[in-house]
Amino acid sequence: MATRAPIPHTPAPATRQAPGPRGLFLLGSIIDFKRDILQAMTRGQREFGDPVRYRLGPLIVHGVSHPDQAEEVFMDGKNVYGKLGPDNPLRLVLGDGLLTSSDHESWFRHRRMMQPIFHRQRLAILFDKMVACSKEMLARWATCPAGDRLDVHHEMMRVTLDIVSQTMFSANVMNDLDKIGPEAVNVTIDYAFQRLQNPFSPPTSWPTPRNRRFKRVMRELDRLLYRIINERRTGRQPHDDLLDMLLSAQDEDTGEVMNDKELRDEVITILAAGHETTAITLTWTWYLLSQHPDIERKLQQEVDGVLAGRTPTLADLSSLPYTLQVFEESMRLYPSAPIIPRLTSRATTLGGYDLPAGSRVLVNLFNLHRHPDFWPDPERFDPDRFAPERRKAQHRFAYLPFGAGPHICIGKSFALMEAHLLLILIAQRHELRHVPGHRVMNHATITLRPRYGMLMTIHPRDGTRGGAGSPRP
Ligand code: HEM
Repeated sequence: MATRAPIPHTPAPATRQAPGPRGLFLLGSIIDFKRDILQAMTRGQREFGDPVRYRLGPLIVHGVSHPDQAEEVFMDGKNVYGKLGPDNPLRLVLGDGLLTSSDHESWFRHRRMMQPIFHRQRLAILFDKMVACSKEMLARWATCPAGDRLDVHHEMMRVTLDIVSQTMFSANVMNDLDKIGPEAVNVTIDYAFQRLQNPFSPPTSWPTPRNRRFKRVMRELDRLLYRIINERRTGRQPHDDLLDMLLSAQDEDTGEVMNDKELRDEVITILAAGHETTAITLTWTWYLLSQHPDIERKLQQEVDGVLAGRTPTLADLSSLPYTLQVFEESMRLYPSAPIIPRLTSRATTLGGYDLPAGSRVLVNLFNLHRHPDFWPDPERFDPDRFAPERRKAQHRFAYLPFGAGPHICIGKSFALMEAHLLLILIAQRHELRHVPGHRVMNHATITLRPRYGMLMTIHPRDGTRGGAGSPRP
């Protein structure tokens, strides 16, 4: 892979506009961003340093790829860098859930109510559900002949959607959406993202085929969610799942619980935020492992040595640190939420440059995680970067796959537990090989998907566990 050139450093005087490309008349950099936002921002960073000012039609956007500036944005302490405003198209789907709530007070109230649910200890009761869903997928895989082809991206999406549905509702209710299918949440998020990316989208009230389809899917999804919430409120049986925990979450000052609309928004937010992100990093991890047999072997040795073929318990996970390092390194190279947007509520400075009120700031985790000043040989897949002694030497804001500051991912422990478990269970039984000739390319939407899926062949490991695996192509 190409070695990255050093990033130019232009010392910034106290008041100045950040440098950036002029772009096209009226449109600015819109076309470049639509074509490939990551490539456009990487080019911008190489040419202009950190931060970079872009014009996207009427909008001014600043790209941030330097850890010091990421720290300024995430830790501003005065809420200058807030979430996008009430016109954020994602709110059409997620409402006022944690991810998209633009009202700081209401976000803070919900975050306080929900934070305890996502503590690792509390999540322990969900671990068995995660194991059961993973084993269901493995039972399916066990029937595949050696060398069979799978789209691993599709498989990881399916299993993580199953896990988030089972841990939320104790049932795979997404299958109840018979006309639109389990992908309903992704379909609606994709629609909202298109609107986010294109400020010239036709208004939602226009009866275009896309708008009509979106509204139909939303109606069906909402009907399902409100029905489940209603059944749960009136039922007596405990389920030990996330929905039970959300229903009983209380505001510690007032003792209030969430109303139906608040619950609906948080449930759909967790469904949306809680599966594709994990699925994508797992997909990239399998791809990277298939390209690095030495690392795959080291992971298998750890898994076989600690577990000798048995199913891990939650307590076992801490004895399998290398497997987690593999996942962490893969999130460095392919952060599944590659760009985190913010909006300045008032005029401020960033990296010494002026930022007017109402500027959009895009913290680019993809570039941050490959910044050559902070990551030696940044393109190389090397899980040992995350060995405890090397981790201590890293800049605290050079690696932020889960964001940072008050909005740091609430599902971080959930995601790490789930991904660690899936990596272990799959590595115990199978090797996955990238199909030669299948094109691998990233595609940044809200998440960093493999543009053409991830076609791989599946090979059982000899003797089920601890064997030599398949010959490599
Ligand atoms: C590898 C998996 C995951 C990654 C890389 C990831 C990444 C992120 C990032 C970067 C943010 C910060 C967004 C911002 O600052 O605006 C975030 C927020 C969030 N994530 Fe995750 N996430 C993952 C898994 C999950 C899971 C499993 C859940 C739920 C079960 C979840 C729920 C959320 C929620 C609700 C927020 C909004 C938090 C707030 O603003 O208070 N995420 N995630």
